[in-house]
Amino acid sequence: MNILLLGSGGREHALANAISKSPSCSKLWIAPGNAGTSTCGRNVAISSTDFSAVASFCVENEVQLVVVGPEEPLVKGITDFFSADDRLSQIPVIGPTAAGARLEGSKDFAKSFMLRHGIPTAAYGSFTAASLSAGYDFLTTLHPPYVLKADGLAAGKGVLILDRLEDAKQELEAMLQHAKFGAASSTVVIEEFLHGIELSVFVLTDGEHYKILPAAKDYKRIGEGDQGLNTGGMGAVSPVPFADADFMKTVEQRIVRPTVEGLKKDGIGYRGWIFIGLMNMDGNPKVIEYNVRMGDPETEVVFPRIQSDVVELLSATGNGTLDQHELRIDPRTALTVMMVSGGYPEEYEKGKVITGLDRVSGSMVFHAGTSTDKDGNIITNGGRVLAVTSLGADLAEAQATSYASIREIAFDGSYFRRDIGKDLE
Ligand code: AMP
Ligand code: GLY
Repeated sequence: MNILLLGSGGREHALANAISKSPSCSKLWIAPGNAGTSTCGRNVAISSTDFSAVASFCVENEVQLVVVGPEEPLVKGITDFFSADDRLSQIPVIGPTAAGARLEGSKDFAKSFMLRHGIPTAAYGSFTAASLSAGYDFLTTLHPPYVLKADGLAAGKGVLILDRLEDAKQELEAMLQHAKFGAASSTVVIEEFLHGIELSVFVLTDGEHYKILPAAKDYKRIGEGDQGLNTGGMGAVSPVPFADADFMKTVEQRIVRPTVEGLKKDGIGYRGWIFIGLMNMDGNPKVIEYNVRMGDPETEVVFPRIQSDVVELLSATGNGTLDQHELRIDPRTALTVMMVSGGYPEEYEKGKVITGLDRVSGSMVFHAGTSTDKDGNIITNGGRVLAVTSLGADLAEAQATSYASIREIAFDGSYFRRDIGKDLE
C-alpha cells in the first residue's frame, strides 16, 4: 500500500516509524516531514494545508491511504476535499470531516456535543461580546480558579486559568472585546475548574467500531515539578498507573461509547483518532477537551507499545472493518523525554547542530523540530527538538534508559525536564 502521512513533528516521526515497519506498507511519503521522518520514507516539500498540491501528489503517485497528523488540515476540511473530488474519493483519509473536527476546532461545539450526549464534563457557559455582562455574572457563580477558553484554535494558547475574579473579568473582556486571540476568542467558554489528575485517552474509530489505544500522561509545563509556562508537552508516559482496568472501563462506558454513538446520532462521519483529555476525579472521569488527532508527545509513547500491524488498523479504519482486527499492546512501560531549544516556549534560536545521535542505543529518538543543513548535519528547527523514548520492564527502567540516551546527545542551549515520570513512581 502507498501511504502519504501529513505533518512534521515528533508525532509524525513516531507514526512514520510504526507505518514503515508494517509489511503492508510499500511506499511511505511524509509531507513535509523532518530529518527524522526521512529515515522512514521520503519527505515531500508540500504543506499539509495545501490541499490541491496534496491532491496532485496523491494522483501522480497512486497514493492509497492518507494519514493526517495535525488538526489544522482536518479543521480546514481535507477529508471533505478528498471525498468531493472524483479522482480522490476512493482514497481513505484517516481523520474526520470538518464537521467532526469541530470537536477540536470549537470548544463551544464540543461542550454542547457533550451536553447533548450526556458525557461528563465541567459545567460551563458560552459568551460573546454581546453577552459580556452575562459572562461576568457567570464568573461570580464559580469558585476560583477561573477557566476561560477561546472557542477556536489559538495555537494551544487559548486557555487561561486565573486565580482572581478581577483578572478573570479583565481577560474575558480582552478576549471578547479586544480580540485577544483574534477571531478564535469571539466566543469564550467559561468553565468550572476540575480538580484531579489528568490523562490522555486515545480512540481509533471507523465511525461504527472503535479501539481504545494505550492511555498516556503528558507533562505540559516547562519546569520541573510542573512549574512555569505551558508547552506543547515536555514528556510522556504510557501506561498510566492510575488508569487501571476498572477506571478504563468507566471511561469506556461513560465517555468513549457515548462519544462514538453521539457522532453517529449527529450524522457526523468520523474515521480517525479521538484524543480525549480527561480529569480523573477520584475515579470519576470528566472530559477536559477533545482533539481530533493523536497527542504529541503522547504518540511517541503510545505507538511504540502497539504491536499490531498499524497499516492494517489504519486501512480497517478507512473501510469500516476495525471490529475484525485485534489490538495487541506491549505490556512494558514507554517513557519519552522531550529535548527542547533554550528559551522555549518563548523565543529560541534555530539551526544548532545536533551531535551524538549515532551514539544512542536502547532508545528511539523521534525528531520533533529538526532539519538538515547544506553539509548534511542534523540541526534544530523548532522549540521541541527531539523526543527520546525508551521501553522498560517498569517505569524506572524506561526512565533510566531515556536519561542515559540524552546524555549522549548535545546541541547548543538544549534543555529537558529531569523529572518525567517521577510523580508516578
Ligand atoms: P486545553 O487547551 O483545553 O487542553 O487546556 C489546557 C490545559 O488547561 C488542560 O490540559 C488542563 O490542564 C487545563 N484545563 C483546561 N480546562 C480545565 C478545567 N475545566 N479544569 C482544570 N483544568 C483545566
Ligand atoms: N500533548 C498534548 C497535545 O498534543 O495536545
